[in-house]
Amino acid sequence: MNQSPNRSLAISANQRNTRLQLCLLALVIVALAISLPVAAQDIQVPQPSPGLMPNPTAGKVLFEKNCASCHGAKLQGSDKGPPMLSKIYEPSHHGDAAFQLAVKSGSRAHHWQFGDMPPVPGLTPDDVAQITAYVRLEQRKAGIR
Ligand code: HEC
Repeated sequence: MNQSPNRSLAISANQRNTRLQLCLLALVIVALAISLPVAAQDIQVPQPSPGLMPNPTAGKVLFEKNCASCHGAKLQGSDKGPPMLSKIYEPSHHGDAAFQLAVKSGSRAHHWQFGDMPPVPGLTPDDVAQITAYVRLEQRKAGIR
């Protein structure tokens, strides 16, 4: 039996469709391959220098200069930001990475009603590690551990 011209038309339309789908799939894969590493970079936690011994005294100076305006000179909070001497910020709930990320990228308001924390420019990961050591020391003194 001879194939009708109609049927062979239908087959080539089908093949064209498959090719289009393959092209779209390839595009999606290329787009993912490009965007995934960028997304991964965004959530990369800044790392302090290996071997750094964070110094709470240096951290105190940096905290007063960069964080106290919102978190309070004695970490008690202010009308612009929450206290760091809160159960919420104990190490098991907000680890040191949370400090690095909050300083680098800011933090969306999610625990309080103060609004978002903006990124704090001009601090290295080592600076933030010093600040974190100071906050941890004060937290321990306040029985938050
Ligand atoms: C302009 C005000 C402001 C400044 C300056 C500021 N913060 Fe914040 N910070 C906030 C607010 C507001 C929140 C709470 C967001 C929320 O509702 O959870 C916050 C939250 C945080 C958190 C918790 C982030 C999380 O993952 O939930 C950390 C850690 C933090 N701040 C550290 C710092 C450090 C360290 C500095 C100084 C280098 C600093 N902040 C400077 C306003 C500020």
